[in-house]
Amino acid sequence: MLNCELGMGKTFDIGLERLTGGSEFSIGSAITTKNEGGATNAGARAEASELDAIRGALRGTFFLETFGCQMNDHDSEKVAGVLLSRGYRQVESPESASLILYNTCSIREKAAQKVFSRLGEFGVKRDEGRIIGVLGCVAQQEGEEIFKRAPWVSLVCGSASYSKLPELLAQVEAGNRRVTGLDTDTDQTFETPVTRRDNPWRAYLTIIEGCDKACSYCVVPYTRGPERSRASDSILREVRQLAELGYSEVQLLGQTVNSYADPTARKVKFSELLLAVADEPGIRRVRFTTSHPSDFTQDIVDAIDAQPKLCNHVHLPVQSGSTRVLRAMQRTYSREEYLEKIAMIRGAKRAISITTDIIVGFPGETEEDLRETLNLLDVVRYDAMFSFKYSPRPHTPSLSMTDIISDEEKSRRLAVLQEKQREIQTAKHSTMVGETFELLVSGKSRRENQWSGHTSCHRVLNFSSQETALLGKYVQVRVTGATPNSLAGEQAP
Ligand code: 5AD
Ligand code: SF4
Repeated sequence: MLNCELGMGKTFDIGLERLTGGSEFSIGSAITTKNEGGATNAGARAEASELDAIRGALRGTFFLETFGCQMNDHDSEKVAGVLLSRGYRQVESPESASLILYNTCSIREKAAQKVFSRLGEFGVKRDEGRIIGVLGCVAQQEGEEIFKRAPWVSLVCGSASYSKLPELLAQVEAGNRRVTGLDTDTDQTFETPVTRRDNPWRAYLTIIEGCDKACSYCVVPYTRGPERSRASDSILREVRQLAELGYSEVQLLGQTVNSYADPTARKVKFSELLLAVADEPGIRRVRFTTSHPSDFTQDIVDAIDAQPKLCNHVHLPVQSGSTRVLRAMQRTYSREEYLEKIAMIRGAKRAISITTDIIVGFPGETEEDLRETLNLLDVVRYDAMFSFKYSPRPHTPSLSMTDIISDEEKSRRLAVLQEKQREIQTAKHSTMVGETFELLVSGKSRRENQWSGHTSCHRVLNFSSQETALLGKYVQVRVTGATPNSLAGEQAP
């Protein structure tokens, strides 16, 4: 499961950084749309020609807003690639676009609601002739219901059907006002010849789509369909191209990235794939997220130990510290089995950062269960934690569970959990003062001589340097200050 919201782990920027604005590409073929309903009187004709004028002015431009996890961010990069190759130009506001797309997230209710509020905003302006599409998890979850709730939407396409996107877009361009792509049984992964990437140094690459686990709270198996792994030779070919384009860091993505199963005859194991990616000339850092504890094996730790280009960070969501709750969540491991995985990672020769996700207020969670989760934080001492109040989702087994925890109580439990993690992070960070880390510089502050970047262990470090033009470079930075959520430093000579 990929993360999308920051909990305590603010120094860990697991989300995609937006470093560049939407790039400007040339306009090629234009989008065509059809008027709905035959205009028969003069008023309607005038209105229709006004609409044509608006469409003409906006023709061939798209606005794409993304909600949710890195997987969605990366899917959006691919969707943008498909559109650019069809001659569209990306614009920064929905007002200046002929095609408006929302790539949605439905992991928690709040996230899912966002798109309906966006669609509401556009409902008012629907007569302006724009084409509106809903992509991603809400599209998959709600399906054709979206047309009922927002009749001005023309395209509804779930992530499992993205490989059909060019076809679906062609139908929309031909004037079809109700186009859907909602299959989840597709055995194809979404590969595009052109992917527009938003970060000039870190490339995201999906190696496995969907999820075969069945966590009782999670909508992902429904919205993203069954697991499909991408061929290892195709992954390595893309990494080679990315390195040639100047990317030095690659992040391999999947809801359960370490469940990767190479579909080719070579049957490359996940740990072997990590090493092969690191071996590509020009690649300096390899990350992967998100790992499922049950599929986390010793050979992954051995690979990290053997190859310093593999970043020393593992995101290993536990969800709860109580075996009873883990069983109810259908997480496939007990507290003890999870702790064995932690011991395995801690047994590495290199120090490896460990981050996690936790859900509080799962139906039936008792005070004792919560105490076990709090105790787990003390035992593991995570480097960062993303924490969530349980949110009931459609099509999930936990929806029918009784013994619901009130929202007020969930908030209380979340606050207690976050306070504990804050103490742990404060203590951890204070021991880092004086240490030196290598950073890939990815941000420049408006304040002079102030920069930021990520360590291999994925901490964000803000630092000062007298040098100019550091973006995309690797530098050594000495930590001079720490707060629970951030580190500050100065460039080391
Ligand atoms: N309610 C609350 N949190 C959830 N997550 C997934 N589904 C739900 C839900 N229904 C959390 C898990 C997951 C993270 C990305 O989102 O902790 O690891
Ligand atoms: Fe992750 Fe479980 Fe959801 Fe799969 S079902 S994406 S393993 S939380």
